[in-house]
This record gives sequence, structure tokens and C-alpha cells, in this order.
Amino acid sequence: MSDGQQNHEPAQSDSFADSLKPGTELLHGQFRIEKFLNAGGFGMTYLARDSLDRIVVIKECFPSSMCCRNNGAVMARSRQHQAEFDAVVKHFGAEARRLSKLQHPHIVGIHQVFEDNQTAYMALDFVRGRDLLDTIEDPRMKLHPRDVKDILLKCLEAVHYIHTNDVLHRDISPDNILIDGKGNPVLIDFGAAKEEATRASRALSALHVVKDGYSPHEFYIAGSTQDASSDLYSLGATFYHVLTGQAPPDSQARVSAIASDRPDPYRPVSGKFPQFEDAFLHAIDKALSVFPPDRIQSARDWIELVDTERRRSAALAQAELDRQIELSISRLVQETNKAVEADIKEHEAKAKAERKEAQRLQKLAQEQARQRKKTLDELALLDDFAFHQEQSKNAEEAARRSAMSVNHDEITPPKRRKSILSRLLPFGLLRGTFRGNGPSDYL
Ligand SMILES: Nc1ncnc2c1ncn2[C@@H]1O[C@H](COP(=O)(O)OP(=O)(O)OP(=O)(O)O)[C@@H](O)[C@H]1O
Ligand SMILES: [Mg+2]
Repeated sequence: MSDGQQNHEPAQSDSFADSLKPGTELLHGQFRIEKFLNAGGFGMTYLARDSLDRIVVIKECFPSSMCCRNNGAVMARSRQHQAEFDAVVKHFGAEARRLSKLQHPHIVGIHQVFEDNQTAYMALDFVRGRDLLDTIEDPRMKLHPRDVKDILLKCLEAVHYIHTNDVLHRDISPDNILIDGKGNPVLIDFGAAKEEATRASRALSALHVVKDGYSPHEFYIAGSTQDASSDLYSLGATFYHVLTGQAPPDSQARVSAIASDRPDPYRPVSGKFPQFEDAFLHAIDKALSVFPPDRIQSARDWIELVDTERRRSAALAQAELDRQIELSISRLVQETNKAVEADIKEHEAKAKAERKEAQRLQKLAQEQARQRKKTLDELALLDDFAFHQEQSKNAEEAARRSAMSVNHDEITPPKRRKSILSRLLPFGLLRGTFRGNGPSDYL
């Protein structure tokens, strides 16, 4: 703790000067206080029961430096503090509502945010267990390296989730990670609301929202850029503590050593804990780099660095996916080829049928042309024959006449040849056999 004002020790007594007493009802009796748990610089924590008799944890906005309790109600210590106190209560409620939207198995669930006693409250799921700090400080508790890795990966999943929801925790430390009965970690006590409160209040600005050893150096500088790597620094410090039994040197001391050309007081964990994989230890050192660009940049990156099992199964899953894709592509190619072949066959069959039909029509046309020619030839023959007959008839007639009379003037001139064709035409018998303007039956 930077200034000793945040007390993370479990409460020694069942009460605290300004705490709500057991039996106190909140929100018209919906909650009943059972036990005072802790008082931090920004609020008090209680165990309570809800209207369904379930145990819940109630966090009360109680920035003790500017408020006091009077007959249950929380009020500003003085008129000068009133506006700041109101702003802090407003921020507490707004942040609680924002956090209540986060739902993850490793993040404490907020199921109600309300106002009472002229301050704000949130009701949290009660996590039965103890915090990570208690766990690592208890000599009877020995975390197996496999459990440590499992807790880290679950914390990283939770951190990844909040970061993808644009939330920074800002207060990751062993006392803000509860370990439930099944050994699963649950992140509690988000610091974002406190950060907002320090900005809203001069009285609270003295209260740094930092924890020495766990906070990266940017948390000590108001208005500095803070990002995912800042939370990951705190998580790195938490697991440094799990491994070494103490928090790493505070980041301010590290920065000042580097600034004055002295060695960084940080002692890497890499190579010191043979029970852990190199990648696991190296990731903690990397997350704890003083300068943000040197750190691990995202929880996802850290998971990938550490989780060899997950890496292996991710690679296998990818390979399986690639195989599936390959199979799908080859199936698709086969189906396409089949479809193309069917198309070609259909096309060929169609072309063949068309060719056949064209041949039939051509044959028909040829046959008809042949018939036409034959008819014309026959008609021409008939015509010639008729003409010759007429000629010889005329000659005979002429001879007969000349024999009968010497008057040459009376000889009848031969009749003009009248074609059978021209005689047939008017009846339309040969319609289409001659070229004309109208459509032909045969062409
Ligand atoms: N959901 C919970 N389930 C069980 N115990 C909890 C829960 N939330 C908090 N506690 C207990 O209460 C203690 C204090 O809670 P919390 O860390 O939220 O606040 P704080 O650190 O005391 O105060 P501040 O919010 O001012 O920093 C925790 O260390 C833990 O022992
Ligand atoms: Mg806490």
C-alpha cells in the first residue's frame, strides 16, 4: 500500500467505528447486514443476506476521509466536502452499473446496485473461499505448480474478457483474487471506480489508487496512459509474489534506479524455479518490464506464451481445420467437375440432337428440291411434248390448208406457245416452287 490508507488485512473485529451494525436493513429490508468484513479508503464491505436468505457481499461507498455516519445515513464531513462526496457517490454507482454488465466465471458477479443511507451500494455474489494472499501466506497451503498455472490462466481469461470490454481492473493483487472452494480464482475489487473518485475529489486525490509492488509506474502518474499491459504488470507482480513469497520491488524504485543508472532492483524469476516451465517464468518477467512497450501486450498473448497444452491443442485444431478445409475443397472440385461433365454431356447431347435435326431438315429440303426439279422436268417435258404436238398439228393444218387453197394470205399464223406451267400457276399448284416474294413451304 502506498500510503497505508487502504487496509487489505481481514477485519480484526466484527465492527468498525462507522460501519453498519449487524441486523441493519438496506433497501427497504431487501438486504440485512450480517457482518462487517473490511474497510478500505473508499468503502466498507459487509456480509449480508438478501430477501431470499442467500449470503451476499455488500460494498458501501464510504470514502472515510470525507464522510461520516450519522444515524445510519452517510454524510459529508463538512459543507466543503459535500460536492466532492456527491461526485464520489455518483461515480461509485455509475462504475458499479458498468461492472454489473461483465459476466464471467472468474469475475465476481454484481447483481444489484442501489442507493440508501444517502450513499451507493452494490450487492455481489458471495465467493466462499479465501483470497490468494491468505493462500500463499498460509504455510499449510502449498500450491502445486499445476494449480498455480491453472489459476494464472483463469485470471488471464478474466482479464482478457474485461479488456475486450474496454475495462481495466487497475487493482489486481493477491488480496483481490478470491479462490473459491473448487480452486477457481475470482477477480474482485475493481479499482476503476476509485480512480474516478480520486479525479473527482481533491480530498481523495491524496489517496493514491496504487499498491506498491503491484502497480506499474504509470499508475503513480495522474493522467498517464494506462492500458492492458498495466493490468498485466499487476498480474505479473501477483504471480511473482506467489512464486517468491513477496511482492516485487515497487515500480517507482525501479524507475528511479534506471534513471540514475543503477541496476534495476528487480530479480527475474526465469531459471530460478525448475518446477515451472521456462516459458511460464519468462512470461512473468516480461509482464513485469518497467516500460510498457517491453511488456506482454495482451492477456491473449500471455495465454499463448504459457499454455503449451492449449498451444498444442490449438495447433491440432488448426491442422484438423486445415484438413477439413482441404477435404471440403476437394469435394467441391469433384462436385464442380461432375457438374461441368454433366453440362458438357448435356450440351453434347443437345448439339447432337440439333445436328440430327438439321440433317433431317437438310435431307428433307434436298428431297423436296429433288422432287421439285423432277416435277418441273416432267412439266417441261409435258410442255415440250404439247408444244411439239401443237406444232405438228399446226403444220398439218397448214399443209391441209395449202392443199385446199392457193391463197397464201389466208394461211393461219401458228398459235403462240402457251406453257403448261403458266397454265398451272394460277391454280397455285406449284406454289413455292418458284422464287417470289412470299414465304416458301420448302425453304
Ligand atoms: N464477493 C466476495 N465474496 C467473498 N468475500 C469478499 C467478496 N468481496 C470482498 N470480499 C472480502 O472482503 C474483503 C474486502 O473487499 P474488497 O477487496 O472488495 O474491498 P477493500 O479492498 O477492502 O476496499 P476498497 O474497495 O476500498 O479497496 C476482501 O479481501 C474479501 O476478503
Ligand atoms: Mg481489496
